[in-house]
Amino acid sequence: MEDIKLDKDNIPSHIALILDGNGRWAKKRLMPRTYGHRKGAFNIISVAKNASSLGVKAISLYCFSTENWTRPATEVKYLMQFPIRFYKKNRERLLKSDYKIIFSGRRDRFDKDLLEVINKIEEETKLHTGLIINICFDYGSHAEITEACKEIAALYKDSKINLDDITPDLINKHLYTKDLPMVDLLIRTSGEERISNFLLWQIAYAELYFTDVYWPDFDENELKKAIYSYQKRHRRFGGLEEDKK
Ligand code: IPE
Ligand code: IPE
Ligand code: MG
Repeated sequence: MEDIKLDKDNIPSHIALILDGNGRWAKKRLMPRTYGHRKGAFNIISVAKNASSLGVKAISLYCFSTENWTRPATEVKYLMQFPIRFYKKNRERLLKSDYKIIFSGRRDRFDKDLLEVINKIEEETKLHTGLIINICFDYGSHAEITEACKEIAALYKDSKINLDDITPDLINKHLYTKDLPMVDLLIRTSGEERISNFLLWQIAYAELYFTDVYWPDFDENELKKAIYSYQKRHRRFGGLEEDKK
């Protein structure tokens, strides 16, 4: 394994990850897609541990998109049950950890058991002060921004705000991610180079990193490679920067 030296003073605060390639990973092994999802879900634990020890403050994980409902019913069912099974198995570990887990996404299409588990996980970890793990589940950026627009329109309609109060800051406060900083680094695994409706507002100035590695194989070294690449970039945010050479 190559030894990657990272600059401890330039670790991205918020990393967004599009966990892609579970199905292809399984297919390569002549296994059902759900086997890949299982492997992929366990990989979340390792990636969270590694991100936390590198000093990352928050990770947003794209686990189920608003478009993923169009997949075969058996696959959807498996993915919908995963948080429940995961919670039952790992509750003690979770309580002992310092991870704060939050969920972003629609909640009106979940069944009662799933909703209950999501609320419990959020409640039981809300005072934790370590890495924030933002699980994006039934998440879609268009749905998120549409919801924000509706909430803001209602405030305006009820004369609680004026037109001039509608600022980027106000819009941000109506997103699921209102308590998180903007995304610094977006990683997508599996060779696809698209955003697939993920955190469109929040990635405005994120550095993008695409790798061919399938999500279940995205290990500590891969995470370090992504952060290393991030550290080589010159983020300018529209301004100018003197040549560092
Ligand atoms: C990502 O893996 C996980 C989810 C979208 C739930 P995929 O299931 O998209 O795997 P591929 O892209 O088919 O290989
Ligand atoms: C994006 O992956 C959604 C998640 C990782 C949850 P998809 O596999 O659904 O995206 P597309 O269809 O290739 O764009
Ligand atoms: Mg995919």
